[in-house]
Amino acid sequence: MNLTQIIKSFPEDFIFGTATSSYQIEGTSFGACGDSHWDSFARKENATYKNQNGSIACNHIQNWEKDLDLIANAGFSAYRFSFSWPRLLIDGKKQRNNQGFGFYDRLLDGMLERGMLPFATLYHWDLPKVLADKGGWSNRDTCKWFADYTENIMKSFGDRLYSVATINEPWCVAWLSHYLGHHAPGLRCMNAAVKSMHLILVAHSKAADVMKSFDQQNIGIVLNKEHFIPATNSEEDISACNLSDEIYNLWFDEAIFKGQYPTRTLEIFKEFMPKDFESDLPKISQELDWIGVNYYTRSIIKADKSEKNVGFQSISGELPKTDMGWEIFPQGLSALLKRQIINYSKTIPIHITENGMANNDNLIEGVVNDKERINYYKLHLKEIKTLIDDKAPIKSYFAWSLLDNFEWAFGYEKRFGLVHVDFNTQKRVPKNSYYAFQKALKST
Ligand code: FCB
Repeated sequence: MNLTQIIKSFPEDFIFGTATSSYQIEGTSFGACGDSHWDSFARKENATYKNQNGSIACNHIQNWEKDLDLIANAGFSAYRFSFSWPRLLIDGKKQRNNQGFGFYDRLLDGMLERGMLPFATLYHWDLPKVLADKGGWSNRDTCKWFADYTENIMKSFGDRLYSVATINEPWCVAWLSHYLGHHAPGLRCMNAAVKSMHLILVAHSKAADVMKSFDQQNIGIVLNKEHFIPATNSEEDISACNLSDEIYNLWFDEAIFKGQYPTRTLEIFKEFMPKDFESDLPKISQELDWIGVNYYTRSIIKADKSEKNVGFQSISGELPKTDMGWEIFPQGLSALLKRQIINYSKTIPIHITENGMANNDNLIEGVVNDKERINYYKLHLKEIKTLIDDKAPIKSYFAWSLLDNFEWAFGYEKRFGLVHVDFNTQKRVPKNSYYAFQKALKST
Protein backbone atom coordinates (compact mmCIF):
# COMPACT_ATOMS: atom_id res chain seq x y z
CA MET A 1 0.00 0.00 0.00
CA ASN A 2 1.20 3.52 -0.70
CA LEU A 3 0.47 6.60 1.43
CA THR A 4 -2.61 7.52 -0.61
CA GLN A 5 -4.14 4.09 -0.20
CA ILE A 6 -3.50 4.09 3.54
CA ILE A 7 -4.87 7.58 4.07
CA LYS A 8 -7.93 6.79 1.98
CA SER A 9 -8.64 3.74 4.10
CA PHE A 10 -9.15 5.88 7.24
CA PRO A 11 -12.68 6.66 8.48
CA GLU A 12 -14.23 9.67 6.80
CA ASP A 13 -14.32 11.81 9.92
CA PHE A 14 -10.67 11.13 10.79
CA ILE A 15 -8.75 14.42 11.00
CA PHE A 16 -5.40 14.88 9.26
CA GLY A 17 -3.39 17.92 10.25
CA THR A 18 0.10 19.24 10.67
CA ALA A 19 1.79 20.73 13.71
CA THR A 20 4.27 23.46 14.67
CA SER A 21 5.16 25.40 17.82
CA SER A 22 5.60 29.10 18.45
CA TYR A 23 9.28 29.32 19.39
CA GLN A 24 10.31 26.98 16.59
CA ILE A 25 8.75 29.00 13.77
CA GLU A 26 7.61 32.49 14.70
CA GLY A 27 10.86 34.43 15.16
CA THR A 28 11.09 36.25 18.49
CA SER A 29 12.65 39.35 16.92
CA PHE A 30 9.37 40.13 15.14
CA GLY A 31 6.30 41.68 16.72
CA ALA A 32 7.65 42.67 20.14
CA CYS A 33 8.04 39.29 21.82
CA GLY A 34 9.38 39.06 25.36
CA ASP A 35 12.43 36.93 26.14
CA SER A 36 11.83 33.28 26.94
CA HIS A 37 14.16 30.87 28.70
CA TRP A 38 14.95 29.44 25.26
CA ASP A 39 16.46 32.82 24.31
CA SER A 40 18.60 32.87 27.43
CA PHE A 41 19.52 29.18 27.11
CA ALA A 42 20.57 29.71 23.49
CA ARG A 43 22.82 32.60 24.57
CA LYS A 44 24.94 30.17 26.61
CA GLU A 45 28.02 29.07 24.69
CA ASN A 46 27.40 25.72 22.89
CA ALA A 47 23.99 25.08 24.43
CA THR A 48 22.59 24.81 20.89
CA TYR A 49 24.00 23.77 17.55
CA LYS A 50 26.27 26.62 16.33
CA ASN A 51 24.75 28.76 19.09
CA GLN A 52 21.61 29.16 17.00
CA ASN A 53 18.36 30.54 18.43
CA GLY A 54 14.74 31.29 17.52
CA SER A 55 15.08 35.02 16.88
CA ILE A 56 14.33 34.63 13.16
CA ALA A 57 13.30 30.95 12.82
CA CYS A 58 10.81 30.74 9.91
CA ASN A 59 9.68 34.34 10.36
CA HIS A 60 6.18 32.96 10.57
CA ILE A 61 5.07 36.28 12.10
CA GLN A 62 5.38 37.85 8.65
CA ASN A 63 4.75 34.72 6.60
CA TRP A 64 1.77 33.27 8.43
CA GLU A 65 -0.69 33.71 5.58
CA LYS A 66 1.59 31.87 3.18
CA ASP A 67 2.05 29.16 5.79
CA LEU A 68 -1.67 28.70 6.37
CA ASP A 69 -2.13 28.50 2.60
CA LEU A 70 0.43 25.72 2.50
CA ILE A 71 -1.52 23.78 5.13
CA ALA A 72 -4.83 24.30 3.35
CA ASN A 73 -3.41 23.49 -0.08
CA ALA A 74 -2.08 20.19 1.20
CA GLY A 75 -5.64 19.28 2.14
CA PHE A 76 -5.07 19.23 5.91
CA SER A 77 -8.21 20.09 7.82
CA ALA A 78 -6.54 20.92 11.14
CA TYR A 79 -3.55 22.88 12.36
CA ARG A 80 -1.86 22.27 15.70
CA PHE A 81 -0.05 25.45 16.79
CA SER A 82 1.03 26.91 20.13
CA PHE A 83 0.59 30.27 21.77
CA SER A 84 3.75 32.01 22.86
CA TRP A 85 3.45 33.06 26.48
CA PRO A 86 6.15 35.80 26.31
CA ARG A 87 4.61 37.15 23.08
CA LEU A 88 1.23 37.56 24.77
CA LEU A 89 2.40 38.67 28.21
CA ILE A 90 5.77 40.38 28.12
CA ASP A 91 6.29 40.19 31.91
CA GLY A 92 4.76 36.70 31.99
CA LYS A 93 1.99 37.96 34.26
CA LYS A 94 -0.09 41.00 33.41
CA GLN A 95 1.50 43.13 30.74
CA ARG A 96 -0.57 42.36 27.64
CA ASN A 97 1.26 42.84 24.37
CA ASN A 98 -1.29 44.08 21.86
CA GLN A 99 0.88 43.10 18.93
CA GLY A 100 0.96 39.54 20.22
CA PHE A 101 -2.79 39.38 20.80
CA GLY A 102 -3.32 40.91 17.35
CA PHE A 103 -1.14 38.25 15.76
CA TYR A 104 -3.06 35.27 17.17
CA ASP A 105 -6.32 37.04 16.42
CA ARG A 106 -5.41 37.19 12.73
CA LEU A 107 -3.90 33.72 12.75
CA LEU A 108 -7.05 32.15 14.19
CA ASP A 109 -9.32 34.01 11.81
CA GLY A 110 -7.02 32.90 9.00
CA MET A 111 -7.41 29.26 10.04
CA LEU A 112 -11.17 29.53 10.26
CA GLU A 113 -11.41 31.30 6.89
CA ARG A 114 -9.50 28.41 5.37
CA GLY A 115 -11.78 25.86 7.02
CA MET A 116 -9.14 24.51 9.39
CA LEU A 117 -9.74 23.31 12.94
CA PRO A 118 -7.44 25.18 15.36
CA PHE A 119 -5.80 22.70 17.78
CA ALA A 120 -4.09 25.03 20.26
CA THR A 121 -1.35 24.25 22.76
CA LEU A 122 -0.95 26.68 25.64
CA TYR A 123 2.63 25.76 26.52
CA HIS A 124 5.13 24.41 24.04
CA TRP A 125 8.22 25.32 26.03
CA ASP A 126 8.72 29.08 25.65
CA LEU A 127 8.53 30.04 29.32
CA PRO A 128 8.93 33.81 29.85
CA LYS A 129 12.49 34.44 30.99
CA VAL A 130 11.32 36.63 33.88
CA LEU A 131 9.45 33.66 35.31
CA ALA A 132 12.28 31.23 34.60
CA ASP A 133 14.54 33.56 36.60
CA LYS A 134 12.22 33.08 39.58
CA GLY A 135 12.68 29.32 39.47
CA GLY A 136 10.53 28.40 36.46
CA TRP A 137 8.83 25.04 36.67
CA SER A 138 10.39 24.19 40.02
CA ASN A 139 8.62 27.18 41.56
CA ARG A 140 4.99 26.59 42.42
CA ASP A 141 4.12 30.22 41.64
CA THR A 142 4.67 29.46 37.95
CA CYS A 143 1.55 27.27 38.03
CA LYS A 144 -0.51 30.22 39.20
CA TRP A 145 0.98 32.49 36.52
CA PHE A 146 0.20 29.80 33.97
CA ALA A 147 -3.43 29.81 35.11
CA ASP A 148 -3.55 33.62 34.68
CA TYR A 149 -2.03 33.30 31.20
CA THR A 150 -4.66 30.65 30.37
CA GLU A 151 -7.38 33.03 31.48
CA ASN A 152 -6.05 35.70 29.12
CA ILE A 153 -6.15 33.23 26.25
CA MET A 154 -9.66 32.09 27.09
CA LYS A 155 -10.93 35.68 27.15
CA SER A 156 -9.47 36.58 23.78
CA PHE A 157 -9.48 33.36 21.81
CA GLY A 158 -11.37 30.58 23.59
CA ASP A 159 -14.42 30.65 21.33
CA ARG A 160 -12.31 30.08 18.23
CA LEU A 161 -10.35 27.06 19.47
CA TYR A 162 -11.45 23.60 18.39
CA SER A 163 -9.35 21.97 21.07
CA VAL A 164 -6.80 23.05 23.67
CA ALA A 165 -3.86 21.16 25.12
CA THR A 166 -2.47 22.58 28.32
CA ILE A 167 1.12 21.32 28.14
CA ASN A 168 3.20 19.82 25.37
CA GLU A 169 5.27 16.87 26.61
CA PRO A 170 5.59 17.24 30.39
CA TRP A 171 8.49 14.76 30.47
CA CYS A 172 10.53 17.04 28.23
CA VAL A 173 9.57 20.11 30.23
CA ALA A 174 10.62 18.46 33.48
CA TRP A 175 13.13 15.62 33.09
CA LEU A 176 14.83 16.42 29.78
CA SER A 177 15.24 20.06 30.73
CA HIS A 178 16.03 19.86 34.46
CA TYR A 179 17.74 16.48 34.88
CA LEU A 180 19.30 15.63 31.52
CA GLY A 181 19.96 19.31 30.80
CA HIS A 182 19.34 19.06 27.06
CA HIS A 183 16.68 21.75 26.87
CA ALA A 184 16.14 25.12 28.55
CA PRO A 185 16.84 25.83 31.37
CA GLY A 186 19.61 23.24 30.89
CA LEU A 187 19.83 22.08 34.49
CA ARG A 188 21.23 18.78 35.72
CA CYS A 189 19.61 18.86 39.11
CA MET A 190 17.57 16.07 40.67
CA ASN A 191 15.78 18.44 43.02
CA ALA A 192 14.61 20.81 40.27
CA ALA A 193 13.72 17.89 38.00
CA VAL A 194 11.55 16.10 40.55
CA LYS A 195 9.80 19.32 41.57
CA SER A 196 9.07 20.05 37.90
CA MET A 197 7.81 16.50 37.30
CA HIS A 198 5.04 17.29 39.77
CA LEU A 199 4.53 21.04 39.27
CA ILE A 200 4.07 20.78 35.52
CA LEU A 201 1.06 18.59 36.25
CA VAL A 202 -0.19 21.07 38.83
CA ALA A 203 0.07 23.75 36.12
CA HIS A 204 -1.89 21.48 33.78
CA SER A 205 -4.63 21.02 36.37
CA LYS A 206 -4.89 24.74 37.13
CA ALA A 207 -5.15 25.61 33.45
CA ALA A 208 -7.82 22.91 32.99
CA ASP A 209 -9.77 24.42 35.92
CA VAL A 210 -9.62 27.86 34.34
CA MET A 211 -10.75 26.53 30.98
CA LYS A 212 -13.64 24.64 32.53
CA SER A 213 -14.76 27.83 34.29
CA PHE A 214 -14.99 29.35 30.79
CA ASP A 215 -16.88 26.30 29.57
CA GLN A 216 -14.13 25.58 27.08
CA GLN A 217 -14.72 22.41 25.11
CA ASN A 218 -12.20 19.77 24.15
CA ILE A 219 -9.50 20.09 26.80
CA GLY A 220 -6.52 17.74 26.80
CA ILE A 221 -2.79 17.33 27.40
CA VAL A 222 -0.08 16.10 25.03
CA LEU A 223 2.19 13.32 26.33
CA ASN A 224 5.29 12.12 24.55
CA LYS A 225 5.65 8.37 24.57
CA GLU A 226 8.68 6.25 23.93
CA HIS A 227 8.79 2.48 23.65
CA PHE A 228 11.48 1.00 25.92
CA ILE A 229 13.26 -2.31 25.59
CA PRO A 230 16.03 -3.71 27.79
CA ALA A 231 19.51 -3.97 26.27
CA THR A 232 19.74 -7.63 27.39
CA ASN A 233 17.59 -10.15 29.22
CA SER A 234 19.55 -9.66 32.41
CA GLU A 235 17.53 -8.82 35.51
CA GLU A 236 19.40 -5.54 35.91
CA ASP A 237 18.61 -4.35 32.39
CA ILE A 238 14.97 -5.40 32.61
CA SER A 239 14.61 -3.59 35.90
CA ALA A 240 16.34 -0.48 34.51
CA CYS A 241 14.07 -0.59 31.49
CA ASN A 242 10.96 -0.73 33.66
CA LEU A 243 12.14 2.22 35.70
CA SER A 244 12.81 4.28 32.63
CA ASP A 245 9.34 3.45 31.32
CA GLU A 246 7.90 4.63 34.63
CA ILE A 247 9.72 7.94 34.61
CA TYR A 248 9.08 8.67 30.94
CA ASN A 249 5.62 7.25 30.34
CA LEU A 250 3.82 5.93 33.39
CA TRP A 251 4.52 8.82 35.77
CA PHE A 252 2.14 10.94 33.72
CA ASP A 253 -0.46 8.27 32.89
CA GLU A 254 -0.72 7.12 36.51
CA ALA A 255 -1.14 10.69 37.75
CA ILE A 256 -3.56 11.87 35.07
CA PHE A 257 -5.74 8.78 34.89
CA LYS A 258 -5.41 7.27 38.35
CA GLY A 259 -4.46 10.13 40.65
CA GLN A 260 -1.29 8.40 41.87
CA TYR A 261 2.39 8.12 41.04
CA PRO A 262 4.20 4.84 40.32
CA THR A 263 5.54 3.55 43.65
CA ARG A 264 9.09 2.70 42.59
CA THR A 265 9.75 6.08 41.01
CA LEU A 266 8.08 7.86 43.89
CA GLU A 267 10.42 6.08 46.30
CA ILE A 268 13.42 7.47 44.36
CA PHE A 269 11.87 10.92 44.04
CA LYS A 270 10.36 11.23 47.51
CA GLU A 271 12.99 13.37 49.24
CA PHE A 272 12.58 16.01 46.54
CA MET A 273 8.81 15.93 46.08
CA PRO A 274 7.02 19.16 47.01
CA LYS A 275 5.40 19.09 50.43
CA ASP A 276 1.81 17.81 50.40
CA PHE A 277 2.03 16.79 46.78
CA GLU A 278 -0.70 14.19 47.40
CA SER A 279 -3.28 16.92 47.83
CA ASP A 280 -2.75 18.00 44.22
CA LEU A 281 -3.47 14.57 42.76
CA PRO A 282 -7.29 14.73 42.72
CA LYS A 283 -7.12 17.85 40.54
CA ILE A 284 -4.35 16.42 38.37
CA SER A 285 -6.58 13.43 37.65
CA GLN A 286 -9.64 15.47 36.72
CA GLU A 287 -11.48 14.31 33.65
CA LEU A 288 -10.13 15.33 30.25
CA ASP A 289 -11.86 15.36 26.88
CA TRP A 290 -8.94 13.85 25.01
CA ILE A 291 -5.35 12.79 25.31
CA GLY A 292 -2.58 13.67 22.85
CA VAL A 293 0.23 11.30 22.02
CA ASN A 294 3.52 12.30 20.38
CA TYR A 295 5.61 9.40 19.17
CA TYR A 296 8.94 9.22 17.37
CA THR A 297 11.06 6.25 18.41
CA ARG A 298 12.02 3.49 20.83
CA SER A 299 14.87 3.44 23.35
CA ILE A 300 17.16 0.67 24.49
CA ILE A 301 17.93 0.78 28.17
CA LYS A 302 20.94 -0.54 30.01
CA ALA A 303 21.52 -0.63 33.75
CA ASP A 304 24.34 1.73 34.70
CA LYS A 305 25.38 1.85 38.34
CA SER A 306 27.52 4.92 37.75
CA GLU A 307 24.33 6.89 37.12
CA LYS A 308 23.72 7.76 40.73
CA ASN A 309 20.04 8.66 40.84
CA VAL A 310 18.16 6.35 38.51
CA GLY A 311 20.84 3.83 37.53
CA PHE A 312 20.29 3.54 33.80
CA GLN A 313 21.24 4.99 30.46
CA SER A 314 19.92 4.56 26.96
CA ILE A 315 22.17 3.10 24.31
CA SER A 316 22.13 3.08 20.55
CA GLY A 317 20.13 0.38 18.78
CA GLU A 318 20.56 -1.36 15.45
CA LEU A 319 17.46 -0.43 13.48
CA PRO A 320 17.59 2.10 10.64
CA LYS A 321 17.70 5.61 12.10
CA THR A 322 16.44 9.05 11.22
CA ASP A 323 18.75 12.05 10.99
CA MET A 324 18.25 12.54 14.75
CA GLY A 325 19.81 9.11 15.31
CA TRP A 326 16.37 7.88 16.41
CA GLU A 327 15.49 4.31 15.46
CA ILE A 328 12.47 3.86 13.22
CA PHE A 329 10.13 1.55 15.11
CA PRO A 330 6.45 2.00 14.18
CA GLN A 331 5.39 -1.06 16.19
CA GLY A 332 6.32 0.90 19.32
CA LEU A 333 3.50 3.32 18.59
CA SER A 334 0.87 0.60 18.54
CA ALA A 335 2.27 -1.12 21.62
CA LEU A 336 2.14 2.16 23.54
CA LEU A 337 -1.30 3.08 22.30
CA LYS A 338 -2.72 -0.32 23.19
CA ARG A 339 -1.43 -0.02 26.74
CA GLN A 340 -2.61 3.59 26.93
CA ILE A 341 -6.13 2.62 25.97
CA ILE A 342 -6.44 -0.61 27.97
CA ASN A 343 -4.80 0.58 31.18
CA TYR A 344 -5.56 4.28 31.19
CA SER A 345 -7.54 6.34 28.73
CA LYS A 346 -10.14 3.65 27.78
CA THR A 347 -12.72 5.33 25.53
CA ILE A 348 -11.36 8.89 25.73
CA PRO A 349 -10.49 10.17 22.23
CA ILE A 350 -6.81 10.06 21.36
CA HIS A 351 -5.15 12.52 19.03
CA ILE A 352 -1.76 11.65 17.57
CA THR A 353 -0.47 15.17 17.99
CA GLU A 354 3.05 14.59 16.60
CA ASN A 355 4.83 12.02 14.49
CA GLY A 356 7.46 12.51 11.84
CA MET A 357 11.17 12.33 11.08
CA ALA A 358 14.24 14.48 10.57
CA ASN A 359 15.88 13.67 7.29
CA ASN A 360 19.04 14.75 5.58
CA ASP A 361 17.06 16.46 2.82
CA ASN A 362 18.59 17.87 -0.33
CA LEU A 363 16.96 20.55 -2.41
CA ILE A 364 17.96 19.77 -5.99
CA GLU A 365 16.54 21.89 -8.79
CA GLY A 366 13.53 22.83 -6.74
CA VAL A 367 12.78 19.27 -5.60
CA VAL A 368 13.25 17.52 -2.26
CA ASN A 369 12.82 13.82 -2.83
CA ASP A 370 12.32 12.78 0.80
CA LYS A 371 11.09 9.27 0.14
CA GLU A 372 12.38 8.09 3.54
CA ARG A 373 9.96 10.51 5.20
CA ILE A 374 7.04 9.33 3.08
CA ASN A 375 7.86 5.80 4.11
CA TYR A 376 8.06 6.78 7.78
CA TYR A 377 4.61 8.34 7.64
CA LYS A 378 3.26 5.37 5.77
CA LEU A 379 4.56 2.85 8.32
CA HIS A 380 3.20 4.75 11.30
CA LEU A 381 -0.18 5.46 9.73
CA LYS A 382 -0.50 1.78 8.95
CA GLU A 383 -0.11 0.93 12.64
CA ILE A 384 -2.73 3.50 13.56
CA LYS A 385 -5.17 2.21 10.94
CA THR A 386 -4.88 -1.32 12.30
CA LEU A 387 -5.72 -0.05 15.79
CA ILE A 388 -8.70 1.90 14.48
CA ASP A 389 -9.94 -1.26 12.79
CA ASP A 390 -9.76 -2.77 16.26
CA LYS A 391 -11.97 0.06 17.60
CA ALA A 392 -9.25 2.24 19.14
CA PRO A 393 -10.69 5.75 19.68
CA ILE A 394 -7.98 7.52 17.66
CA LYS A 395 -9.43 10.64 16.06
CA SER A 396 -6.63 12.54 14.38
CA TYR A 397 -3.04 12.49 13.16
CA PHE A 398 -0.69 15.47 12.95
CA ALA A 399 2.47 15.31 10.89
CA TRP A 400 5.41 16.96 12.62
CA SER A 401 6.10 19.38 11.11
CA LEU A 402 4.75 21.78 8.53
CA LEU A 403 8.09 23.55 8.12
CA ASP A 404 11.74 22.88 8.71
CA ASN A 405 12.27 24.89 11.87
CA PHE A 406 14.37 25.55 14.97
CA GLU A 407 14.79 22.04 16.33
CA TRP A 408 15.69 23.21 19.85
CA ALA A 409 19.25 22.30 20.84
CA PHE A 410 19.83 20.95 17.32
CA GLY A 411 19.18 24.39 15.85
CA TYR A 412 18.39 24.52 12.14
CA GLU A 413 20.50 21.47 11.33
CA LYS A 414 17.70 18.92 11.70
CA ARG A 415 14.90 19.16 9.18
CA PHE A 416 11.48 17.75 10.09
CA GLY A 417 9.34 19.74 7.65
CA LEU A 418 6.95 18.71 4.91
CA VAL A 419 8.08 22.03 3.48
CA HIS A 420 11.73 22.93 3.00
CA VAL A 421 12.77 26.31 4.36
CA ASP A 422 15.82 28.21 3.15
CA PHE A 423 16.77 30.01 6.36
CA ASN A 424 18.64 32.75 4.46
CA THR A 425 15.81 33.74 2.14
CA GLN A 426 12.78 32.26 4.00
CA LYS A 427 11.76 30.62 0.74
CA ARG A 428 9.40 27.66 1.28
CA VAL A 429 9.58 24.70 -1.10
CA PRO A 430 7.13 21.82 -0.54
CA LYS A 431 8.95 18.49 -0.37
CA ASN A 432 7.73 15.32 -2.03
CA SER A 433 6.27 14.24 1.34
CA TYR A 434 4.06 17.35 1.23
CA TYR A 435 2.88 16.38 -2.25
CA ALA A 436 2.30 12.80 -1.09
CA PHE A 437 -0.08 14.03 1.62
CA GLN A 438 -1.67 16.43 -0.85
CA LYS A 439 -2.28 13.69 -3.35
CA ALA A 440 -3.95 11.53 -0.72
CA LEU A 441 -5.94 14.25 1.05
CA LYS A 442 -7.09 16.20 -1.97
CA SER A 443 -8.47 13.12 -3.66
CA THR A 444 -10.44 11.77 -0.69
C1 FCB B 1 8.96 16.87 20.10
C2 FCB B 1 8.62 18.34 20.28
C3 FCB B 1 8.63 19.13 18.99
C4 FCB B 1 9.77 18.71 18.10
C5 FCB B 1 9.77 17.21 17.90
C6 FCB B 1 10.82 16.71 16.95
O1 FCB B 1 9.47 16.36 21.28
O2 FCB B 1 7.34 18.47 20.84
O3 FCB B 1 8.69 20.49 19.31
O4 FCB B 1 10.95 19.17 18.58
O5 FCB B 1 9.93 16.58 19.14
